[in-house]
Amino acid sequence: MSDAEIIPDPLPDLLEEHVRLLEEVRAAFSSAADDKALEAARVKYLGRKAGLVQAEFDRIKTLPGEERRAFGKSANALRQAVERELAAARIGHGTSEIDISAPRLDMTLPGRARELGHRHVLSQTTELLVNVAATLGFSVAEGPEVESEFNNFDALNIPREHPSYDPFDTFYIETPEGAEKLVLRSHTSPVQIREMKRHAPEPLRVVVPGRTYRPDKVDATHYHTFHQLEGLAVDSDITFQDLKYTLDLFAKGVFGEETLTRFRPSYFPFTEPSAEVDVSCPFCARDGGACPVCKATGWLEILGSGMVHPKVLSNGGYDPEDFTGFAFGMGVERIAMLRHGIRDIRLFIDPERGNDLRFLEQF
Ligand code: PHE
Repeated sequence: MSDAEIIPDPLPDLLEEHVRLLEEVRAAFSSAADDKALEAARVKYLGRKAGLVQAEFDRIKTLPGEERRAFGKSANALRQAVERELAAARIGHGTSEIDISAPRLDMTLPGRARELGHRHVLSQTTELLVNVAATLGFSVAEGPEVESEFNNFDALNIPREHPSYDPFDTFYIETPEGAEKLVLRSHTSPVQIREMKRHAPEPLRVVVPGRTYRPDKVDATHYHTFHQLEGLAVDSDITFQDLKYTLDLFAKGVFGEETLTRFRPSYFPFTEPSAEVDVSCPFCARDGGACPVCKATGWLEILGSGMVHPKVLSNGGYDPEDFTGFAFGMGVERIAMLRHGIRDIRLFIDPERGNDLRFLEQF
């Protein structure tokens, strides 16, 4: 369709005598003081028998043939214009029979509310975590969900035949024989390797949000697809004190100023020493009571952490003689569940139990 077809023809120019008549009509309609006067004016101009506009149509047949066409067009346009003036004048009078067959904009109708979506609770939680980390000087990086087996395991010092492999077991992607093996990453830690290679030998402080996968048996706290936030700092003089201080501030940023942290010895193949970090339960008094969230212990485990293993540093391109670092990793679902009192991880994205707007709209 060309533009000419969708833009309606402009009103044909009115003949001069019709312009004058239209002005007279306008004056008459606008000076009509009430409905009665307006009706009288309508009859005067639009009346079937003696209306002045109607008279213009009667004149057509008295004109010489070659003038009729232009005159008729002008008379038609005049009548349309006068009808519009009348409708406008009626609205102005507050009473009106509005011709609802004509498309028009009724400014008095209530608007149609448009439903706006909002970010998923997991995105909101990730954003909170990333923002708190940003206040501590961490920038943000991302890595692929389909990762090399090497980055997911070997570069992180996770031996294939060792029990420490089990918690990180994952889904393998079919690849041609001889090609590099690919997995759905079972944690965001392989991005440690990517980021170290990208930055070495410069110091580095990043957090890495992202989706991760494990063939876990699904229950209220486990799901095969979940999200993590990884943190990594590498520099020439990083100590365990930096790790404790940073994670304590991080926990206060996420759970509130009053939050206390507790570090428990743990084991990860890619950190040495390693620690699990608990926060004081924000849902109950420090001593527990009968709180169902912390099971009356007063503490909630939120993340794993440790000093980056020398082998991992060197796999990332740093000389472990000159560099040290700390790393941490946490589950985004777990943080969201703790912050919002959500009892079942399946409510987030499970196609049967989750993704329900009645659930998601609460956050
Ligand atoms: N990658 C570990 C996990 O998924 C968490 C972790 C990250 C622990 C970094 C220590 C250091 O459980």
